[in-house]
Amino acid sequence: MKKISLPQHSKMLTSDFVFGVATSSFQIEGAANDREPSIWDTFCAEPGRIKDASNGLVACEHVKHWRDDVELIASLGVDAYRFSVAWGRVMNADGSVNQAGLQFYIDLVDTLISKGIAPHVTLYHWDLPQYLQDQGGWLNRETAQRFADYAEVMAKALGNKVASYATLNEPFCSAYLSYEAGIHAPGVKNRQQGRQAAHYLLLAHGLALPRLRKHAPKAEHGIVLNFSPCFAATDAPEDIAAAKLAHNYHNLWYLQPLLTGSYPDLRHALQAEDMPAISAGDMELISQPIDFLGVNYYTRTVFREKNGWFSDVPPTTPPLTTMGWEIYPQGLTEVLVDLKRSFTNFPPIYITENGAAFADKLVNNAVHDEARIDYYQQHLLAVHNCIEAGLDMRGYFAWSLLDNFEWAEGYTQRFGIVYVDYATQQRILKDSAKALQSFWRNRAAQL
Ligand code: NOJ
Repeated sequence: MKKISLPQHSKMLTSDFVFGVATSSFQIEGAANDREPSIWDTFCAEPGRIKDASNGLVACEHVKHWRDDVELIASLGVDAYRFSVAWGRVMNADGSVNQAGLQFYIDLVDTLISKGIAPHVTLYHWDLPQYLQDQGGWLNRETAQRFADYAEVMAKALGNKVASYATLNEPFCSAYLSYEAGIHAPGVKNRQQGRQAAHYLLLAHGLALPRLRKHAPKAEHGIVLNFSPCFAATDAPEDIAAAKLAHNYHNLWYLQPLLTGSYPDLRHALQAEDMPAISAGDMELISQPIDFLGVNYYTRTVFREKNGWFSDVPPTTPPLTTMGWEIYPQGLTEVLVDLKRSFTNFPPIYITENGAAFADKLVNNAVHDEARIDYYQQHLLAVHNCIEAGLDMRGYFAWSLLDNFEWAEGYTQRFGIVYVDYATQQRILKDSAKALQSFWRNRAAQL
């Protein structure tokens, strides 16, 4: 079996760097009856939305098997575990707290800590309670206030036991894919609404931050964004301009307000009526200092000009993942080096997600996923190169611990380093998990 390694002098091999695995609530938990329905339950119930017509009602039954899953995480030799809290498992529609739901996360955190694994919590990984969507969801400013209330409940309950709190995971997805492209819940297709949802999501982050800091003053507080470096399909000036617009629209639209308090100036491309409504004081709230930026990295994207806008050109040259994504590890270094150059206050970075889906086959209780081992090896080197280039890299989380519900793709995509046999809920370490495990255990033994 292939091995994973890093240069001996790499800072990633020291205790200043955190290695972990990541998951999210809706994608693994199941136990849907014990929580409020979320917009993803509603979306899954709509015909044609999810590739295999599946849903998150059972998923990996993590709520049932969580103790075994924690053992599994501990067996990998990682320092940390990143998971998300299902808002609707904690907050009832009437604003009261679901004590049993909250206790689930308290027990999870305590058990992780007892095994020497640092909990990294994400508060919003897309599973908005349906009762808030019924009031307009992320198009309603009030949702941001409700998020801050919920964040406060979590910080009061978990406090400094948690190593880091991320307010949002990939607001690009919960705004653009959800309200503008219509491919994620709640499935809205409207440019202005996509921009507005992004603004209220960022506002939610800004309103939550001081409350998190108050109740968990020793934890780190930040947000998770996804970046994909944007390349032009050709040297034609219009394609170059399209790639630049895509970078502003997909990447900087979320980062720039956080770091500078302003959205990218897209007056040449975006109609005035498509701009979000912004109230006095919003941008100050949004641009409060953060302790870290979580970065999810998977691939690069290539764009060409189409009708005065940008359009992505799907990659065709192999090797591709089963998501159809190009494997482009150097993009991780390139995009972060570029962003650091663009912002004087570029924060410390955790790679909060990185991984790949492949056509895994379980044969004789084993999954020989060499391509995934290669993927991790190449991307870990890309993180190392970021450090060499002067970036303040704090950690790396593999996506994902388990095969799970991959949103609109349902269960057709397997991102886990651990295979899940959904019929039996058995967890089986893929070769990639074994390669990472031996790398992580060796590293831990030398700390
Ligand atoms: C990013 C998302 O945060 C996660 O939920 C998803 O499964 C992965 N990308 C893979 O698409």
